[in-house]
Amino acid sequence: MGVIASAPAKIILFGEHFVVYGEPAIVLAVDKRAYAKAELREDKRLFLRSLNLNVAGFFENGNFKAEEGNPKEAKIKLEPLKCAVEKVLEISGERAGLNIEVNSTVPVAAGLGSSAAVAAAVAAAVGALLNVKMSKEDVFRIAYEAEKVMHGTPSGVDPAISTFGGALFFQIDTGFKPLDVRVDIPLVVGNTGVERSTRSQVAKVRSLKDRYPQVVEPMMRAAREIVLRAIEALKEGDLETVGELMNINHALLYGLGVSDESLEWLINAARKAGALGAKLTGAGGGGCMIALASKDRVENVLEAVQRAGGNAFIAKKTDEGVRIEPT
Ligand code: MEV
Repeated sequence: MGVIASAPAKIILFGEHFVVYGEPAIVLAVDKRAYAKAELREDKRLFLRSLNLNVAGFFENGNFKAEEGNPKEAKIKLEPLKCAVEKVLEISGERAGLNIEVNSTVPVAAGLGSSAAVAAAVAAAVGALLNVKMSKEDVFRIAYEAEKVMHGTPSGVDPAISTFGGALFFQIDTGFKPLDVRVDIPLVVGNTGVERSTRSQVAKVRSLKDRYPQVVEPMMRAAREIVLRAIEALKEGDLETVGELMNINHALLYGLGVSDESLEWLINAARKAGALGAKLTGAGGGGCMIALASKDRVENVLEAVQRAGGNAFIAKKTDEGVRIEPT
């Protein structure tokens, strides 16, 4: 008998990239989930399989043996999950052999936090299987360690929202606070289908910031003001202001060099169809954009993004963070 856990994908409404340098961000968990199943093995080996990445293999005594996919690629993709499993085993004090199978409905390398959702689900599934007492804080910390293996210098915003769900205000120094967002936020997500690595987009911004500190630092301050103003607008249910702020946030991200042609194409299509605002979400360089629309325009915006070639859907906020699934 195995244990299945799941965790949601996320949308960064405001503040990606700037959040890495201590500025605040606003994030929402959305109704696409990653699932992880954990089972005990007779031996002491760790077998990991990702059904959506088509990779699988064994980790044993510091060695990796691929069973599916290109061995080098399989190792890189499964390494963060191995890290999450090992952290749970450290807490449990047990050296159990495990089979872990991951399946995710979250598009990969698209800015929706698929790796963090998977890591949180894996940590929770292994913890529940081994009866380890783990708080959500523990799951967050473990998923954050896994993200470091994956991305180098992540802010922690992705594992935080995948673990806790809902809507969060996130800042590296002060941590995260749930945001009480009562207003419905009709959001269209458009996937450009261009895969990119968060690590390289973050490195690109760091290089720009190092070369032009006097230019980029005021952009950081502007991004902070956008978030603070957006919190008020979200509280008041003032979607027009939220949309306008999304447009300004996107302009800053464009300035940082993390937009691309495919994103601009979908963002323009959404704005032309009457979106209140549109921006890239996540690391950029491809991946996903989001558009905010009034309830009566959301279907038009969805169609426009689809016609422009995006794989689009309407995202719904979910309050459920990481959870154990009934078996
Ligand atoms: C990635 O979803 C968000 C970035 O801000 C990186 C991070 O916060 O770790 C680009």
